[in-house]
Amino acid sequence: MAGIVISGVSRTFGTVRAVDGVSLDVGEGEFFTLLGPSGCGKTTLLRMIAGFCELDAGAIRFGSERIDRLPAHVRDIGMVFQNYAVFPNLTVAGNVAYGLRARKVPTAESERRVEEALALVQLTGYGARWPHQLSGGQLQRVAIARALVIRPRVLLFDEPLSNLDARLRVSMRTEIRELQKSLGITAIYVTHDQEEAMSVSDRIALMNAGRLEQVGVPVDIYRHPVSRFAAEFMGTTNLVPGRALGRPGDALVSLRPEALRLASEAPQGWPVLAGAIARLELLGPIMRLDVRLADGTVLKAAMLDAPHQHLQTGAAVALAYDPARLTVLP
Ligand SMILES: Nc1ncnc2c1ncn2[C@@H]1O[C@H](COP(=O)(O)OP(=O)(O)OP(=O)(O)O)[C@@H](O)[C@H]1O
Ligand SMILES: [Mg+2]
Repeated sequence: MAGIVISGVSRTFGTVRAVDGVSLDVGEGEFFTLLGPSGCGKTTLLRMIAGFCELDAGAIRFGSERIDRLPAHVRDIGMVFQNYAVFPNLTVAGNVAYGLRARKVPTAESERRVEEALALVQLTGYGARWPHQLSGGQLQRVAIARALVIRPRVLLFDEPLSNLDARLRVSMRTEIRELQKSLGITAIYVTHDQEEAMSVSDRIALMNAGRLEQVGVPVDIYRHPVSRFAAEFMGTTNLVPGRALGRPGDALVSLRPEALRLASEAPQGWPVLAGAIARLELLGPIMRLDVRLADGTVLKAAMLDAPHQHLQTGAAVALAYDPARLTVLP
């Protein structure tokens, strides 16, 4: 186990500053996520930690040990990739044993550790199978077993679930999170999916164009975004000038859809806005509404479906919002 200290790390490719002066402390045993849009530098930063990409500036330490100039194979890192990178010409056991052979672990011990790693990912008995006989979710478990078998100090995941279907992504992310917690290994997890990041992470670093936009526990970033970028990336939001909400001043305000309700169902004291329903969408448990106010501002509202409501596109509606859930953006 080890905490990770990243200090002033940068990397440029040609004219692109892929990672630009990033400093981060990841705690021992922490599940830490790098979140951000395509091209923001997540993979580059992860590859620098793994030892697959050189730094232009800065340092990376595991605990007090500086590791950024060590070759990848002595860093004690397990890495899991998006495309599994499972070797098709090796059996499941052969794939999992790969890192042990490279480390010259004796056969008897290797066999024991492969069994142990397969058990951790619920693939006991699959050792003799070939990769083409496995489902996508099972292949990803093989990749995780292969990363775990070397008993790494740190586990790195680069979009490990993006090749799986939506349902499997949801169950696998819980599995990864539970496994990481039960083993107590420090993990850095890369994704561009904010919901996935919020569901698994102890903390998130939101990245934007090579830099850190905001670092914090998921609920804080969601509820208290520090910028327009953070407010929009962390989920649907209404970004409106303060005036549109009947508040003086020109500040830009973020108001999440779930902070709005029908005025008839809102607590006393919430400000009420009159408008008309421009769009209505029922997503099972959640009803989404677009409401156009008199000044043309469109607000997105989300509420739990309630069969007693009979809303219709074009109908007049009174919305109320929770004033405590307004975030004024700089
Ligand atoms: N080996 C390379 N040579 C040239 N440019 C690169 C190289 N690796 C990354 N880049 C550039 O650096 C930037 C960051 O890339 P990176 O792969 O780290 O982004 P990412 O956040 O992982 O994106 P994605 O979500 O699409 O995987 C991009 O502009 C990319 O084109
Ligand atoms: Mg990437």
